[in-house]
Amino acid sequence: MKSRVFSGVQPTGNIHIGNYLGALKNWVKIQYDYESIFCIVDLHAITLYQEPAELRSKIAELAALFIAAGIDPKHSSVVVQSSIAEHAELAWMLTCVTPLGWLERMTQFKAKSETQESIGDGLLQYPVLMAADILLYNAAIVPVGDDQAQHLELCRDIALRFNSLYGETFVMPKTSMPTVGARVMGLDDPTKKMSKSAQGSGHSVALLDPPDVIRKKIMRATTDSNPAVDFETMGSGVENLLSIFQAFSEWTPDQMRAHFSGMRYGDLKKQVAEMVAVSLGPIQQRYKEITSEPGYLNGILRESAERVRPMAQETVRMVKQRMGLYTIS
Ligand code: TRP
Repeated sequence: MKSRVFSGVQPTGNIHIGNYLGALKNWVKIQYDYESIFCIVDLHAITLYQEPAELRSKIAELAALFIAAGIDPKHSSVVVQSSIAEHAELAWMLTCVTPLGWLERMTQFKAKSETQESIGDGLLQYPVLMAADILLYNAAIVPVGDDQAQHLELCRDIALRFNSLYGETFVMPKTSMPTVGARVMGLDDPTKKMSKSAQGSGHSVALLDPPDVIRKKIMRATTDSNPAVDFETMGSGVENLLSIFQAFSEWTPDQMRAHFSGMRYGDLKKQVAEMVAVSLGPIQQRYKEITSEPGYLNGILRESAERVRPMAQETVRMVKQRMGLYTIS
């Protein structure tokens, strides 16, 4: 049996080349080696206020982008979290075995709650819902970035605690994928990882940015005080541009050196922009096709939901039984 992979992405902000090169591109490549579920975690998104119409369109956009980028919906499932009621249901049951102290010490909770005037309970429960996402499908592999490692650790702790209270129920998920993608840094600040929530239009290139916007953003990217590429002394900005080029082109390190050594930054940027624009072209084309065919995306989301729902129902049935909740027959 193939191992099951589960990952979730919030339908907020704009999916950018960092998300693509760091995760999505790799998911597409390895999808047939696993049984994969890619989840659009809208219930996580509402832990902070989202404008409803905007959220609705972001959910559809993200689903269409997954497919446009190459996720094959016949094989892999693209699931909207809120369309499977069991995510919220299992989250409640797990909440009841989770000590408050575990949640209060999550660094992301601490960071997010600092930005809020009043802290919503959902923000505290966020990692329990994430644990429910994973345990609902007994996912063996959960590819996430470093920022989610603590949440995944908590998921394991919750599963262990549940198992010790109610008997072996959940399998322990592993963190990451065997292969890792590129780590793309912000164009405006190459010391920080490219982020969906960062402000400023020069920070990231979104997957749906038109070619002229891509060019403008890359031409403005931060470099260093050298005039041209020197592989020995280059700063993190130049290194970032080169690694973006390399991740899209899949050139070898030797090819990269031979081609870019001594190239002036203006030319380097032009070539990186061209590579990004040309690589995103087919994804943007497919995105257009997917979103212009009425009912197509909805059909895919329905099929995926129907495929995964029986697994979710089976887990909740078992958990209810273990905990002594009553099921009406
Ligand atoms: N919290 C994750 C993030 O912001 C998204 C997420 C929700 C997730 N549920 C998940 C990731 C389950 C992996 C598995 O990146």
